[in-house]
Amino acid sequence: MSTLITNIAELMTQDAEHRVLRDAAVVIEGERISWLGPAAGAPAADERVDAGGRALLPGWVDSHTHLIFAGDRTAEFEARMAGESYSAGGIAVTTGATRSASDFDLTRLAMGRVAEAVSQGTTYLETKTGYGLDLENEARSARIASTVADEVTYLGAHLVPAGMDAEEYTELVCGPMLTAVRPYVRWADVFCEQGAFNEDQSRRVLLACKAAGLGLRVHGNQLGEGPGVRLAVEVGAASVDHVNYLSAADVDALAASWSGWDAAGGSGTPGSGQRGTVATCLPACDLSTRQPLAPGRELLDAGVQLALASNCNPGTSYTSSMAFCVTTAVLQMRLSVHEAVRAATYGGALALGRESGNDADGARAVGSIAVGHRADLHLLNAPSATHLAYRPGIPLTHAVWRAGVAQPVR
Ligand code: NIG
Repeated sequence: MSTLITNIAELMTQDAEHRVLRDAAVVIEGERISWLGPAAGAPAADERVDAGGRALLPGWVDSHTHLIFAGDRTAEFEARMAGESYSAGGIAVTTGATRSASDFDLTRLAMGRVAEAVSQGTTYLETKTGYGLDLENEARSARIASTVADEVTYLGAHLVPAGMDAEEYTELVCGPMLTAVRPYVRWADVFCEQGAFNEDQSRRVLLACKAAGLGLRVHGNQLGEGPGVRLAVEVGAASVDHVNYLSAADVDALAASWSGWDAAGGSGTPGSGQRGTVATCLPACDLSTRQPLAPGRELLDAGVQLALASNCNPGTSYTSSMAFCVTTAVLQMRLSVHEAVRAATYGGALALGRESGNDADGARAVGSIAVGHRADLHLLNAPSATHLAYRPGIPLTHAVWRAGVAQPVR
């Protein structure tokens, strides 16, 4: 089955050459993109979709969410809006509600959140454990996550649960809990921050997970300067997320991690050479916690690869809207529209090691529109991507294809 999408006013590919095509068309065959180019030269297909002069982007790649939870933190949010500051301790409230929820309810809630994200243009999504915080509930969260998300991250090291000593809990995270979650996860993460895990504990968790064959991610420098960013670079993490409070040395370390990287690739294949640590900015979280926005402009200018993600979770960022993140990145972080869309598509794919199709497990590339890549497409109800920032708050998703399949749009 093939589908021709034609009459595309602006096709923002986010490919290796950063091409933006006008009056373009794309052909989907099965789950992959089989052709793109000028509409006038498009081949015939089984089905034809008239894009009506709208803009087509890659689907959003949301590389940082926490969707496996039950309960509500409205009261904490209200207190914050009245002047209280965010602290990691709120995680414990969600842990209580999550442990009490049935498998059925946790799965239903997570599926609803994924459906909400997809209906707004998200076509590839990571989610984490981290509200179980004991062996049984972390393993359960990982198992449920693996049924609803494209990528699953083990975040046993989110908070030391009540009644446990930090050292004792770190040993559990590095040992039996890791063994229990291992079949369900590709990544491991640690909340390296005051009130969560210190540098030594974070390093032990990351190295144990690396030894178990997991890729690494770090929650770092969210609430103040600290060791998170430098630790992420030291252990070769694919991404360090939040990055609100950065020293010059942190920015240098992130930039240096990409010094051997050829984004365009010698053969036109994105992603040749030594990959570094992506800086993942979470602007919706920054607004909801009233932290200063992460310095996305400065990071890009320094040569750091950037991702934007929703950080959808009940505590610090209860939104799955990647469009809101893109809008904020343009209006407040001073990224261009093209840079912000790139960070929310290709950047997320890079943070998840999915920007090229050469993965050992044979997965197709996501986050850019190119022949052979997964047909993850987002048609805007607007003639150009600029409208994402020009018309803030307006729902602009017109149609979504995920692996070649049209998705329901609200
Ligand atoms: O990424 N910072 C740590 N984890 C989440 C918040 C978790 C919560 O407060 O429930 C975050 O912001």
